[in-house]
Amino acid sequence: MKGIILAGGMGTRLKPLTTIINKHLLPVGPYPMIYWPIIKLKEAGITDILLVINGADQEMFETLLGDGQNFGVNLSFIHQKGPNGIADGISLGKSFVGEEKFIVILGDNLFEDSLASYIESFRLQEKGAKVLLKQVNDPKRYGIAELNIEKKIITSIEEKPIHPKSNLCVVGIYMFDSSVFEYIASIVPSDRGELEISNVNNLYIENDQLSYDFLNGWWIDAGTHEALHIANCFYYSNNKEENNE
Ligand code: DAU
Repeated sequence: MKGIILAGGMGTRLKPLTTIINKHLLPVGPYPMIYWPIIKLKEAGITDILLVINGADQEMFETLLGDGQNFGVNLSFIHQKGPNGIADGISLGKSFVGEEKFIVILGDNLFEDSLASYIESFRLQEKGAKVLLKQVNDPKRYGIAELNIEKKIITSIEEKPIHPKSNLCVVGIYMFDSSVFEYIASIVPSDRGELEISNVNNLYIENDQLSYDFLNGWWIDAGTHEALHIANCFYYSNNKEENNE
């Protein structure tokens, strides 16, 4: 299975830092944020990785990561023309993944658990997609899933709901089969001008092809100043030796 990491977008909620540096190059612990999804994919045995970036940031990413050799992975880059949405970013991976199933990580999602078991269960899934859920305190910020617990299915996902139907966030780790590219081609931009990943996942739901698991361990979307601070606190409280060096 191959992996795609999304590291484009504008990082608006992290301004003024992101006026001069891409969000995914900001530090979490001793490393730039972008190291973490690469390490998580490698840990789960995914070594062919496509990084979706803004063209203007190519030099910085390349200087930092090269072709991925230092991480034991094969990295390639593709440019997204603008912050046209997560689904737009994923669509750029079409020829990279071909007909295979693949995994997507949003570059600002940081988490503790290994992805290996979730990927394994997705490998066994005949077709469709899988998402991972996590309880959150601030559901208005995320894609929020409504469940039918008895049937163990997601009945709908609402992006940044004003009146959230649950506190179950669909985290930025998605597993898709190649039908995702047809679904993306069939959606239109939302009111904020983005091709929304939640709309794509809702198409999988309509076709009874979206499974889910609960993500264990801590998880954070480091896209705001406070969340970035919390991510650093998680890192240093879990890595006390480094803290005391
Ligand atoms: O963190 C989980 C949430 O991420 C999900 O619950 C939401 O359903 C999903 O829409 C997303 O919401 P955000 O508002 O946090 O997305 P954001 O715009 O911050 O983008 C997330 C990552 O994707 C970020 O690392 C940048 C990258 N990105 C984003 C856009 C809009 C791109 O590479 N290209 C883009 O066009």
